[in-house]
Amino acid sequence: MKNTPHPIQYQGSKRNLASAILHYLPKDIDCLIEPFAGSAAISIAAAERQLAKNYWINDLNKPLSDLLQMIVESPADIAEFYKKVWNEQHDEDSLEHYYKIRESFNRKKDPRLFLYLLARCVKGSVRYNSEGLFNQSPDKRRHGTRPETMRANILGASALLKGKVRFSANDYKMVLAQAQQNDFIYMDPPYQGVCGDRDCRYLSGINHHDFIAALEELNSKRIRYIVSYDGRRGDKTFGETLPDFLNLTCIELDAGRSSQATLLGRDEVTYESLYLSPGLMKNSSGKPMESYRHSHIKQLNLKTNDAAAIFGPGTVAPVAA
Ligand SMILES: C[S@@+](CC[C@H](N)C(=O)[O-])C[C@H]1O[C@@H](n2cnc3c(N)ncnc32)[C@H](O)[C@@H]1O
Repeated sequence: MKNTPHPIQYQGSKRNLASAILHYLPKDIDCLIEPFAGSAAISIAAAERQLAKNYWINDLNKPLSDLLQMIVESPADIAEFYKKVWNEQHDEDSLEHYYKIRESFNRKKDPRLFLYLLARCVKGSVRYNSEGLFNQSPDKRRHGTRPETMRANILGASALLKGKVRFSANDYKMVLAQAQQNDFIYMDPPYQGVCGDRDCRYLSGINHHDFIAALEELNSKRIRYIVSYDGRRGDKTFGETLPDFLNLTCIELDAGRSSQATLLGRDEVTYESLYLSPGLMKNSSGKPMESYRHSHIKQLNLKTNDAAAIFGPGTVAPVAA
């Protein structure tokens, strides 16, 4: 939906793909679990559509998970705090102000300061140095979301989720181990690229083989899930794909044109793979669900014309992973 609240600026947020992803969710979810929540874009969008009774928002990054909890449980306080910090930047050199807030955040780990840093830093992109200190630079051209907009986003997210969410900051495996049969898990793990620094294995990379083993375990328990994993831009693929033996259905979502490619005059669209757990694509009669049809999604493993012929113009075709 157009006005879905989105308080946290976060690189890699699924806010723009949320509608396409939610299309594949079943209708009978007890608890929607996001083990790699980030900005919790999927939980917020799902709550707006009342897709689950309860939600479990987890992210290993504790200040981030604490921040999400504050947004949901104490919205007025955090909106007021943001307004105060945001306004202060106009009383002094705004870059100096950012560095002061960043230093204070690294000392105290106050999640409220993190909200401002994420709104003001380059591309909402979380970067830590080898000592685990947040070291992303400020965006010199922007001052961050205006307080009134931030307030509306915070209050909106809280209204959708208050009283329905459990929060935690655990490793994803601990979360998966507690999932039940009527739950549904949406997983958007960090990019699988090679880690350069010591802390990135905690916050920006997971082990591919461990992850596959965790998915196998979910399959054996018949727990339903969707994973956002690899992708490609033009002919260039990024990330490893998930193996056939997991018996997943892979769909490619059109994530739009990258601004970088546009600047370079290249007409390249990014596609993100979405893997659906076994059984998710079938309704009770065993037939493919209507939800295959989605205008945002393009099937790429079939030639476009074939896909259009089979599924209708601008629609998606499922492929075995
Ligand atoms: C790609 S982001 C998720 C973005 C999210 N889907 C959104 O819409 O904002 C991946 C997240 O996983 C978290 N993370 C990294 N390693 C983790 C782990 N082992 N267990 C749980 N969360 C982890 C990171 O802190 C990061 O916020």
